[in-house]
Amino acid sequence: MPQIQNLQINAERLWDTLMETAQIGATAKGGICRLTLTDLDRKVRDWFKARCEALGCTVSVDEVGNMFAHRPGKNQDLAPIAMGSHLDTQPTGGKFDGVLGVLGALEALRTLHDAGYETNAAIEVVNWTNEEGSRFAPAMLASGVFAGVFTPEFAHTRQDRDGKAFGEELARIGYKGAEKAGARKFSAMFELHIEQGPILEDEGRMIGVVQGVQGMRWYEITIAGQEAHTGATPMRLRKNALLGAARMIERIDAIAWEHAPDAVGAVGLLENKPNSRNVVPGEVFFTVDFRHPEDKVLDTMEAKLRASLAEILAPLRLAYSETRIWNSPPVKFAPELIECVRIGAEKAGFKWRKMISGAGHDAAYVARVAPTTMIFVPCAGGISHNEAESTSFDECTAGAQVLVQRG
Ligand code: GLV
Ligand code: MN
Ligand code: MN
Repeated sequence: MPQIQNLQINAERLWDTLMETAQIGATAKGGICRLTLTDLDRKVRDWFKARCEALGCTVSVDEVGNMFAHRPGKNQDLAPIAMGSHLDTQPTGGKFDGVLGVLGALEALRTLHDAGYETNAAIEVVNWTNEEGSRFAPAMLASGVFAGVFTPEFAHTRQDRDGKAFGEELARIGYKGAEKAGARKFSAMFELHIEQGPILEDEGRMIGVVQGVQGMRWYEITIAGQEAHTGATPMRLRKNALLGAARMIERIDAIAWEHAPDAVGAVGLLENKPNSRNVVPGEVFFTVDFRHPEDKVLDTMEAKLRASLAEILAPLRLAYSETRIWNSPPVKFAPELIECVRIGAEKAGFKWRKMISGAGHDAAYVARVAPTTMIFVPCAGGISHNEAESTSFDECTAGAQVLVQRG
């Protein structure tokens, strides 16, 4: 058994792997469009499975498509240590969001394999299904099932905007496994991820030692007006649903500003019906995303949203319905794991800082059932959910190195 003090990941191999899988769903602007449970998702899953099996790992899939590549350890009585993230992307996603966490963990496996190093506990590399929540809301859906937040039935019956069900799409791509979600236990879970914000880059630091994740709430709102001729209908008779939505979008932005700098809010998806240039819009569907590290501030923002809907839409003679479809409370990560990451970053010689995650992550749900934390690395200009998302060779290397670094 070799005595290895410091395993070193193979930086070129990690980078090549990131660039190779970025071809699966590559966009003209240098990003990735690989929505969950599409044929491209199947392709990257097949790739991931084959690479893990080539290292002698057993790959299992649970009932919501979460994938677990198992590398045995010396002590079978210890629950595995998990590492991973997600391989799905936004429609105009970058090359690193989620992917770095899975491929960084694969690189950790390869490094252990090359060194012939046997860990005490088994290692499991995880690809969580539908982290993004772009095609099927809410985000972190399958890690949520794993953690007991959602039932498998809830996940299977989520529909995309074309009416396709998650469960059917999962079966269609061949990744509806037999294993009960949550049946497997972890002694720890580490998720490597890009920061998706500007703090590390601004301060010239390499590693974010993540303390927790802020709270998130998603709402769906439909405004109902009346379709009418844009030429012949006097202004006083119109019930313009898009006008109501426009005023609400301004108000939602203002609500976030009222609680800035920690609060954020946006309308990200909007569907205008019938979307014809000479019809007064009769119906608008849109979504709201509010985030803040404290639940009580989110309560206030939610109350303001509800009051504003009534105040703004009534004078326009518009009806509406509003549903809060997701509430992911603020999360605190496990102190003993946070300390491991801090020590790992120090030992590897990286400048680090403590931080809270602004983005949602599978780690936020897994933290309910296993000690969990995250490792952040910078991304240029803090830009993410964008094809221009960019994390350098050295930054990717640093994050994966912390995954294997001995304390
Ligand atoms: C997931 O990417 C989220 O933060 O919405
Ligand atoms: Mn992500
Ligand atoms: Mn994302």
